[in-house]
Amino acid sequence: MNKQNWIELKLYGNQQDIDILMAYFNNESIGSTINDNFTSIYFNDNMKNKVNHHLKLYNQKLNFDWNITLLEQENWHLSWKDNFCPVKIGKKIIIIPSWDKKTKSEVTIRIEPGMAFGTGHHQTTFLAIKLLEEMISKSSSVLDLGTGSGILAITSKMLGAKNVDAVEIDQDCIENFQYNVKINNLKNKIDFYHYDVLMWDKYDYDIIVANINKNIILKLIPNLKSSKSQIILTGLLNDDYDFIIKICEKNNLKVNQHLRKDEWIALKVSNES
Ligand SMILES: C[S@@+](CC[C@H](N)C(=O)[O-])C[C@H]1O[C@@H](n2cnc3c(N)ncnc32)[C@H](O)[C@@H]1O
Repeated sequence: MNKQNWIELKLYGNQQDIDILMAYFNNESIGSTINDNFTSIYFNDNMKNKVNHHLKLYNQKLNFDWNITLLEQENWHLSWKDNFCPVKIGKKIIIIPSWDKKTKSEVTIRIEPGMAFGTGHHQTTFLAIKLLEEMISKSSSVLDLGTGSGILAITSKMLGAKNVDAVEIDQDCIENFQYNVKINNLKNKIDFYHYDVLMWDKYDYDIIVANINKNIILKLIPNLKSSKSQIILTGLLNDDYDFIIKICEKNNLKVNQHLRKDEWIALKVSNES
């Protein structure tokens, strides 16, 4: 069997500019880690030319340096292991790597870093989890749109939600999602749908969470306009705030709360009527 290789793009420089790049590459990348002096974004190795091309274009407007290295399969996993520290979120949640046998909190979520986005290190995942902790009760039904690693669906279930559905378009996420569900002892307790969120048409949940990206969120908002759910929208930059609010208002959705972390934002919205 051929070995799958990846590339690691290391970005140095102005964090605001790096956040813009991360948002741009969000859909194309297969993960990222934020370190003290640099940010790494990982891609399949066939993306190298495309990534280089876009970096050269962005480098004319933004302030950053970069280098790209090839990672072989084994190194990829080691690289994640080196960078995956526990993440404490809100009052009672901690996200730990699958191999950590010691760290614990009231709600402990294990994640195997893999091909899917969602280890808790990214600001948008962090903000969504913070809001979920405030919103979920024992009777809640939850829809997780763009589930990736399953981190938000798993968190919802671990916080006590009654029913959780998770939707993801990317076939490569399925194995990681299922593994994460298993190591959190939630086998058969979350329903997974391999589906495009823009084709999804069931919105009668107490809580809907969508951590995707600006383009998909913009297309999703009109589909959510008659939903009675409390909705978390993220994958958005601070700079998107005014524009997204206008689109929400046009679709009868009122922004009830927003949280920011670095350059990222999460909105809690609901139908006004
Ligand atoms: C930013 S990641 C979020 C992962 C995880 N929910 C989290 O909060 O960390 C966005 C996820 O949405 C998925 N996605 C993007 N477009 C989608 C679509 N049209 N339908 C379903 N999933 C989509 C991506 O494949 C990716 O796994």
